[in-house]
Amino acid sequence: MKKNKEILVTGDRPTGNLHLGHYVGTLENRLALQDSYDCFFLIADLHMLTTHGDRVSELRDNIDELVIDWLSVGMDPNKSCFYLQSQIPEITELTVLISMLCSVSRVQRIPTLKEKISDLNLNENYSLGLLSYPVLMSSDILIFNASKVPVGEDQLSHVELARELARKFNSHYKEVFKEPEPLISKNSRLVGIDGQSKMSKSLNNCIYLSDSEIEVNKKVMKMFTDPNRTSADIPGRVEGNPVFVYHDIFNSNKEELKDFKDRYRKGKIGDVEIKKSLAKNINQFLDPIRERRSKILKNKGEILDIIFEGSKRAREITKNNIELIREAMNLYTSSSDYK
Ligand code: TRP
Repeated sequence: MKKNKEILVTGDRPTGNLHLGHYVGTLENRLALQDSYDCFFLIADLHMLTTHGDRVSELRDNIDELVIDWLSVGMDPNKSCFYLQSQIPEITELTVLISMLCSVSRVQRIPTLKEKISDLNLNENYSLGLLSYPVLMSSDILIFNASKVPVGEDQLSHVELARELARKFNSHYKEVFKEPEPLISKNSRLVGIDGQSKMSKSLNNCIYLSDSEIEVNKKVMKMFTDPNRTSADIPGRVEGNPVFVYHDIFNSNKEELKDFKDRYRKGKIGDVEIKKSLAKNINQFLDPIRERRSKILKNKGEILDIIFEGSKRAREITKNNIELIREAMNLYTSSSDYK
């Protein structure tokens, strides 16, 4: 179909609804790239199991939700391929093959993985599956021989491992893989509404793409601002203030925003006025997303078709690539002559 375009791979774990942090961190980037690349968007259900192995009952609903979120922002299965990781056995096979090239201490040093293990209070008791999270992710990327991988900054260390394993494979066996390049978006770490850390479901500081207007209004009104500003006549700090971080992204009226900032610095505007305007802007941004979502919900039956058709198309590539990989490693391939 799109034979001449370079391949791009990225994806999400189906662990719950996507939020504004995902939008500015990666979804926006995907929309911009889906015309110029042959895009493969992965539903990383095996990655979900690395940390949520006890929650398999949620898996199917979460997968549906993820695809609904994707469609609602305008990711288009007619342009790009949406596929399910566990439907692509070549990904799991490649994980085993490249794990031979990766030392345990190398993955133990990966900051994102260390953070995950400490967030989950696992100490030394993390599973082998979780430890090989970055190897599985490298496999997701390498099985397509992808050129580009758009991710948030926190995922960079995983893409770095994929690059390293590609180089090692090429030098140990045969030149098979390209070194995939990460693409980082400009706002890759959106602060949560608590103003403390990155927007994240587990910290309960998110505005979801599926939030209603009323929910958005409530959340914005609760949003953290300058803690030293106990009344509207005290000059406030704009830089690093979450309300202004969001305004910078979601308010396209730059003149109004400049006026807000000037008055805020002088103590001439209340938080409520700034927040009301922010809530209005976020709601305006979410309106078309909500509209698409309600249309999709009327055709929910299509979601499985999208995923399974996509997985079928993805396998046309992965089946071919695993043969090249096996051949490079001197393993028998399905076309090997048995004498
Ligand atoms: N680890 C990624 C995340 O949590 C999701 C993911 C899995 C991914 N496999 C991938 C992203 C391959 C890019 C490429 O966000």
